[in-house]
Amino acid sequence: MTIFARKTIDALQAEADAGDDFDAGEGHRTLKRTLSGFDLTLLGIGCIIGAGIFVLTGHAAASNAGPAVVLSFVFGAIVCAFAGLCYAEMASTVPVSGSAYTYAYATMGEFIAWLIGWDLILEYCLGATTVAIGWSGYVVSFLRGFGIEIPPALAQAPFAYDPVTHWSHTGAFLNIPAMLVVAVITVLLVTGIRESARVNSAIVVIKVLIVVAFILSGFAFVDRAHWVTAHNPDGLFIPPNAGHDGVYGWSGVLRGAAVVFFAYIGFDSVSTVAQETVNPKRNMPIGLLGSLIICTILYVLVSYVLTGIVPFDKLNVADPIAVGIDAIGMRWLAPIIKLGAIFGLTSVILVLLLSQPRIFYTMSKDGLLPPFAARIHPRFRTPHITTIVTGIVVTVLAGLLPIGLVGELVSIGTLFAFAVVSIGVVVLRITHPEIERPFRTPAVFIVGPLGAISAVFLMAGLPADTWLRLVAWMAIGIVIYFGYGIRHSRMRERTR
Ligand code: ALA
Repeated sequence: MTIFARKTIDALQAEADAGDDFDAGEGHRTLKRTLSGFDLTLLGIGCIIGAGIFVLTGHAAASNAGPAVVLSFVFGAIVCAFAGLCYAEMASTVPVSGSAYTYAYATMGEFIAWLIGWDLILEYCLGATTVAIGWSGYVVSFLRGFGIEIPPALAQAPFAYDPVTHWSHTGAFLNIPAMLVVAVITVLLVTGIRESARVNSAIVVIKVLIVVAFILSGFAFVDRAHWVTAHNPDGLFIPPNAGHDGVYGWSGVLRGAAVVFFAYIGFDSVSTVAQETVNPKRNMPIGLLGSLIICTILYVLVSYVLTGIVPFDKLNVADPIAVGIDAIGMRWLAPIIKLGAIFGLTSVILVLLLSQPRIFYTMSKDGLLPPFAARIHPRFRTPHITTIVTGIVVTVLAGLLPIGLVGELVSIGTLFAFAVVSIGVVVLRITHPEIERPFRTPAVFIVGPLGAISAVFLMAGLPADTWLRLVAWMAIGIVIYFGYGIRHSRMRERTR
């Protein structure tokens, strides 16, 4: 058997349909199906709206696109829409909790599946790390507004990274708030998917209200006069190029799209709870595409309002939305917005930390990870061991690492998975035209390739350092596969 052997669709569908039987001795119980299409949409929004819109919008406007950051958001949405349509077909056809890992197993074989599973650690573990660090920044700023000062030594990473000078010591001890939020969320996640989804839903309502409040209160103040800055004396929607690639002009819009892409990451996390979803064939596409559409509309409006009420050169700050609120004279609303952002970031961390263990769970069931990773808690029915291991790793990383370094790795890792899923959906149409597809990607032979090309295009915009780290990470994954996975793979066992 080759390392490119594929899992059959029948086997995957049987896995997806697995009932509630369990082997009590082994502790391999199945997950519990409780989530509806509405829950999934909220879960998607829970993971999408976060550091991207609350922090990166300002950076992308100030450093790359000016008011045309609105277009950056539109481009980001188009890339995600291609991938989202492909995920929707895959998730409705093989609703197993492994997300892109599972889809690659069915279409490109075990080795590529393993690589994608390994790659998804960048999206989920490092994604949670990035957002936890952003969360810490917002909490420090929020408390400062009330005269409570957390010493920087206790709320910053001890290490900084600069592409030129490389690593340096910041003098800080650990980012304690970032560590605390991860630890608390991990405990919640162990206690139950239903409980976690409920907390997520409550938070999502709060954060969507905050975003809508910002749009509504700012809309009347939008004035094109604010587009005028030193770099944009004529007040153009797309400011002229500032002499560097990626700073204003169309190249700035595209670089801005690569930056704000982070804001869309998370809709795909919906596909990791396929086995905890009621009628996943119908509800998976609803959750994936519903959350993506709602967030796209909100993002375009937020970026339009923000750059219409504050000149973009003033937006290179940690809390641009709060700066916007100050600019329209509604200072009293700023702490509320900050609090909403803190809640918002909390749910992103929650969903990312919820997704990762489910991918490990699926990989372990396939024998590519040790059996303990597939254990389900007897009472809570959650994959508690992988949840705790994920929580500990992310807690340590969030305490130690600087935000910029991890953020770009998250984007490159996610885009890689998008490219593979977009190709996979086309492969499956060719190899298995006959299987039932509750959701069919429209114009799949155009959308699939465009999904892959656009993802690679955005990857190409990321720094060479980030590429090197991706390659190094994948090399470690390959060593582990040939050291462990290849010898323990269930599929291989069956054919031996
Ligand atoms: N999309 C998520 C965020 O912006 C990861 O925080």
